[in-house]
Amino acid sequence: MSVFETYDETSRHYDTTRVPIGAEIILGCLARHEKPLGELVVLDAGCGTGAYSRAIVGRVGRIEAIDMSAGMLGQARAKLAPEAAAGRIRFHQGSIAELPLEAGSLDAVTINQVVHHLGDTAEDGFVRLRAVIGEFARVLGPGGVLVFNHCSQAQMRHAFWYYHLCPEGHDSICRRFAPLEAVRAILEDAGFVNRGAFVPVDAVCQGDAYFDGRGPLSKAWRDGDSFWAQVSADELDRALARVRKLDAAGALEAFVAEHDARRPELGQITFLFATRG
Ligand SMILES: C[S@@+](CC[C@H](N)C(=O)[O-])C[C@H]1O[C@@H](n2cnc3c(N)ncnc32)[C@H](O)[C@@H]1O
Repeated sequence: MSVFETYDETSRHYDTTRVPIGAEIILGCLARHEKPLGELVVLDAGCGTGAYSRAIVGRVGRIEAIDMSAGMLGQARAKLAPEAAAGRIRFHQGSIAELPLEAGSLDAVTINQVVHHLGDTAEDGFVRLRAVIGEFARVLGPGGVLVFNHCSQAQMRHAFWYYHLCPEGHDSICRRFAPLEAVRAILEDAGFVNRGAFVPVDAVCQGDAYFDGRGPLSKAWRDGDSFWAQVSADELDRALARVRKLDAAGALEAFVAEHDARRPELGQITFLFATRG
């Protein structure tokens, strides 16, 4: 379970703004497996409301989807009911650190924006992330593909305008994201070969809603990014007061533009592509 977000509750609004950006990158990486794409058995680890599963289910053989949150899984089950009935996807409630799957039973794993919820820090050597990656190495057969959707430190620092409303929360969310170099090193330690990194620079996680300067005033909008769940109540109050003040002064659009200036060059997310050696 996330160490800071209450996903059973958030699940009601998550899809209001959240978009599965970069699904075409996942498919491109999966297509590098020696088996045909349409025969691959793929794990969606921390599948959430099933948005990425839905984006790829018609192109792969079968999906195993796992998440800890009953609420998120409920949304995913509703979204993918026909595919589940047809045996194209199976859902599991549980931890990605203890997969209910046999060794070597999968061709590919995709994990999208999950591991910052594990509660790791650089000081503890990202020990939980190591355990999760070890599980992926166990369930993947030789040549298995891993597509790991995460954010770089530069993306966390400069590609989400509203993080600048909450300086303390901004620092703390950055610390929750293992730097890409640390993830690559952990992948190598677990026997993966790093094959590359891809950034969908033209897409944003909350779609057009991201550009709405008044967005943070709405709980449904905030539920599209767990950043808000780890901000203190006082800091949230200060952030919302700042939005109202900027809006009243006619300066809100300029604030968004200033703090969004580097996103088109950096993108918001990075897909690491690795194969099991
Ligand atoms: C930001 S959401 C991402 C959901 C989905 N992958 C997406 O990109 O739309 C993070 C998800 O990870 C799940 N999660 C967090 N820690 C987990 C764990 N240890 N095991 C399984 N799921 C976990 C949460 O319940 C939540 O659904």
